[in-house]
Amino acid sequence: ASFDDFSTLLLEWYDRHHRHLPWRTPPADTRVGVLPDPYRVWLSEVMLQQTTVSAVKSYYEAFLAAWPTVEALAGAETEAVMRAWAGLGYYSRARNLKKCAETVAADHQGRFPDTEEGLKTLPGIGDYTAAAISAIAFNRPAAVVDGNVERVVTRLLAMETPLPDAKPLIRAFVANILPADRPGDFAQAMMDLGATICTPRNPACVLCPVSADCLARQNGTAERFPRKAPK
Ligand code: ADE
Repeated sequence: ASFDDFSTLLLEWYDRHHRHLPWRTPPADTRVGVLPDPYRVWLSEVMLQQTTVSAVKSYYEAFLAAWPTVEALAGAETEAVMRAWAGLGYYSRARNLKKCAETVAADHQGRFPDTEEGLKTLPGIGDYTAAAISAIAFNRPAAVVDGNVERVVTRLLAMETPLPDAKPLIRAFVANILPADRPGDFAQAMMDLGATICTPRNPACVLCPVSADCLARQNGTAERFPRKAPK
């Protein structure tokens, strides 16, 4: 397979079928050269690290209403932030969230760094989150790879290498095919494809915009991927 048209087909699909999520306002298809607020992207990505989209939505909206800017969150009472987080789990995320807001407000004039390297210096921001923020909020060509993207890519390539060994291969593949003009939408399109079409069980290959490129689809083996090394 050649992947020349992969990102074009994927982005056409995303423009029609992207999920309407509160951190994607305005929606991708009405946004012309307007980037989303890095604070909103950061908040959503930290919440989504270990929690599902459906569980995150109402927390995300409550946080934004209570603390609409990074300065507001930096100035909040830690207790109030912990209360607003209650139920989301992994409470170190909430403590790092507060620390990160304080750092951005105090050391970066309230503006998030716009590179992966700069973002990774902040509390609670690791490889995945730095890539996601730099792609989605700053339109930088970062390879954003979460569990959804791992499933999509290992199926496309019928990749026999099991996780976690496959991770660097997946990142390299994504870095190679991502479109320079819309890396943020590309990242979110890959996530939406994995969440809604290229699902762990019974993937909806007939609805998939890139099924013609997919080796697992050709072989009828989609559910075998990703392979996982025995524990
Ligand atoms: N999971 C993590 N980040 C996401 C995003 N921006 N959109 C949808 N699902 C996600």
